[in-house]
Amino acid sequence: MSAETALVTGAGGGIGAGIAAVLARRGDHVVAADLDEERAAATVAAIAAEGGSARAVRIDIADVEAAAATIARIDAETPLATVVNNAAVATSGPLVDVRPDDYDRVMGINVRGTFFAVQAALRAMLPRRRGSIVNVCSTSSFTASTSDMTVYDTSKAAVRMITQAAAKEVGRSGVRINGVAPGTLRTALTTPLLDDDGFAGLERDRIPLGRLGEPEEIGQAVAFLSSDAAAYVTGHVLVVDGGWLA
Ligand SMILES: NC(=O)c1ccc[n+]([C@@H]2O[C@H](COP(=O)([O-])OP(=O)(O)OC[C@H]3O[C@@H](n4cnc5c(N)ncnc54)[C@H](O)[C@@H]3O)[C@@H](O)[C@H]2O)c1
Repeated sequence: MSAETALVTGAGGGIGAGIAAVLARRGDHVVAADLDEERAAATVAAIAAEGGSARAVRIDIADVEAAAATIARIDAETPLATVVNNAAVATSGPLVDVRPDDYDRVMGINVRGTFFAVQAALRAMLPRRRGSIVNVCSTSSFTASTSDMTVYDTSKAAVRMITQAAAKEVGRSGVRINGVAPGTLRTALTTPLLDDDGFAGLERDRIPLGRLGEPEEIGQAVAFLSSDAAAYVTGHVLVVDGGWLA
């Protein structure tokens, strides 16, 4: 059997690269898609160095029409079995200082971009009545961050609802849509916060397992949700946070 193809957006980044690595190790051909093509290419090189199969693609999920065309093109070349919507941005700072353009940027990527990437993936998968979508949510999809991240938290709550509503709507097709909700990991997205030693210590102290997560641990959850082992799982958001939300 030829390899299944998995598209991972934001695959040039910490968690996306971890997800891409795990999916490649299970034998998927990974399409590492990122706004930053060089970072996507680095992920592909790391997968190739392990003997895996991957290719890099530039995508800007905020440009929803172009992103949909890219997803359709990838699907025409290699039918997508798995689509992981991982690309996102964060912003922090007091709510009273949030500017409308910053709000629009975060929502435009995290919510609008994810929504239309889900739509594009469904347009490919529904006619085949087969496929799995995993949206990267966050513990912020369930509870507010301890730092001032109201816009980001709002966006991640919306991604959780996109996941649940879409899963209900298309369930009869057999296409499954789930989410994974990481706790805190050190990546480019969180380094500005974690560089504050006090905050990093506080984070670790609040995590029952006593450490930050690793990108590949998120990848393992995505691998499960997108596998036949999760054939009866849809509309679920799997929390991978070392027990923080417990
Ligand atoms: N790091 C954490 O602690 C943490 C916790 C919970 C959830 N998450 C979620 O995990 C996901 C990945 O986060 P990360 O920490 O790896 O971030 P990151 O900043 O390290 O990586 C994000 C990647 O997305 C890419 N990207 C940004 N905007 C894009 C766009 N418009 N189109 C395509 N690609 C784009 C970036 O180039 C980057 O490679 C996000 O959805 C984030 O909300 C992260």
